Amino acid sequence: MTPTLAQSSGSPGSRILGLGAARGELIVSNHDIVGPIDSSDEWIQKRTGVIERRRAGADTTVVDLAQAASLEAIENAGIRPDQIGGVLVSTISNSVPTPSLAALLTDRIGATPAPAYDISAACAGYTYGIAQADAFVRGGLAEYVLVVGAEKLSDFAKPTDRTISFLLGDGAGAAVVGPSDTPGIAPTVWGSDGSKWDAIGMDSTIAAYRDGAGEVAWPTLRQEGQTVFRWAVWEMAKVAQQALDAAGVSSADLAAFIPHQANMRIIDEFAKQLRLPDGVVVARDIARTGNTSAASIPLATHALLAEHPELHGGLALQIGFGAGLVFGAQVVVLP
Ligand SMILES: CC(C)(COP(=O)(O)OP(=O)(O)OC[C@H]1O[C@@H](n2cnc3c(N)ncnc32)[C@H](O)[C@@H]1OP(=O)(O)O)[C@@H](O)C(=O)NCCC(=O)NCCS
Repeated sequence: MTPTLAQSSGSPGSRILGLGAARGELIVSNHDIVGPIDSSDEWIQKRTGVIERRRAGADTTVVDLAQAASLEAIENAGIRPDQIGGVLVSTISNSVPTPSLAALLTDRIGATPAPAYDISAACAGYTYGIAQADAFVRGGLAEYVLVVGAEKLSDFAKPTDRTISFLLGDGAGAAVVGPSDTPGIAPTVWGSDGSKWDAIGMDSTIAAYRDGAGEVAWPTLRQEGQTVFRWAVWEMAKVAQQALDAAGVSSADLAAFIPHQANMRIIDEFAKQLRLPDGVVVARDIARTGNTSAASIPLATHALLAEHPELHGGLALQIGFGAGLVFGAQVVVLP
């Protein structure tokens, strides 16, 4: 007779236990970057809400940023690194296709031999990581999971690019997800639309660079701004509403709304379409940090909690969206 297999099962609930953040140490103003793109401080502020962005210096790597954010998150969660059973790093700026940034980070923070891997879901990556960590904890794959969004986008920003470079910043945000007796992470609404693969991404390939005999530039980021803008405003507001519905709550139940920090006009439009009551605090970290892709939601959450301690324990709707065109949204209890 075939023996009955054991299957894993975990905690009835999961929640975010602690957060950490690290921003690039340099403050780069609009004045510092407008020259090569024939732009102005006024244009950038009016069209995007960005006043300045944080960038890392030449000696700071994306792993350094991830490490600083992770150690703070672990301390705030009140656990030891060796209790971590999974390290999920969302990044588009690892310096090599393999090995993963996650494996290196796991060693640096003292969490070896935790399973570790990178997620390639651009600006939706943190929400993908939270979705997976929730499943890990409730499915019994791990008791504690470290979710990190880490980017050094300045490595992929061309100073002469007018489409996206001026938005980009460097930083890392981290969260420890662990067991909970009560629900702390609502169902994730997520997906992708590869038919718009070209709307945002790299301007060439590594192979083209290799074969270009010096004629092809190092691949950097570019986007069709209006295509991305329209998709974000029309389609992502619907996804945000679906995440509220999946959680069984309404916008009036929220303490905070924390969208990916892509453009202040997109954030304002979301708030309008979701009919957020005045009491809901909206994350606007893009003004001082810029767009840090996978790091932007945890960085914005960390800043919001420092500024508004009364939000601890409240509900936050978070939504990430970007290259691919991938998206993810969920309601979480703030740590
Ligand atoms: C990139 C973005 C700010 C551009 O703003 P926009 O209002 O769409 O700009 P447009 O492309 O329509 O151009 C409008 C005008 O500004 C000019 N312009 C475009 N980029 C400019 C820049 N960086 N600086 C100054 N002027 C610029 C254009 O030449 C055009 O001038 P014209 O009216 O004289 O022809 C905007 O499209 C955007 O934020 N898109 C979504 C970005 C996003 O969220 N990306 C990340 C997703 S993860």
